[in-house]
Amino acid sequence: AYVIGLPCVDIKDRSCIDECPVDCIYEGRRALYIHPEECVDCGACEPVCPVDAIYFADDLPEEWGDDHAASNADFFAALGSPGGGSAAGPQDHDSPLVSALPKKVS
Ligand code: F3S
Ligand code: F3S
Repeated sequence: AYVIGLPCVDIKDRSCIDECPVDCIYEGRRALYIHPEECVDCGACEPVCPVDAIYFADDLPEEWGDDHAASNADFFAALGSPGGGSAAGPQDHDSPLVSALPKKVS
């Protein structure tokens, strides 16, 4: 699956949402997350992110350090597979990894 990583945190541009044909991009408090089982790997979201936050899981930049593929999966621990980010709406939580990141100052 594709993964939303570090640069999305505290930015949340949301352009990616409109591109996804299966609506598998979900909004958390500080970042967005791709559902690892609902994503069909179409890749449409990847080029539209202005901060380059989206990568295929195997190609995630090593300099991000943390495991953002696991982070995206962790976001759905309590949510399961709702089958659509727009119907689910913004969620009041983040993955443990994103929650623990220091706030970005912009
Ligand atoms: Fe985040 Fe980029 Fe989407 S900043 S919300 S991954 S367009
Ligand atoms: Fe959607 Fe991007 Fe996957 S557009 S299907 S989240 S690769």
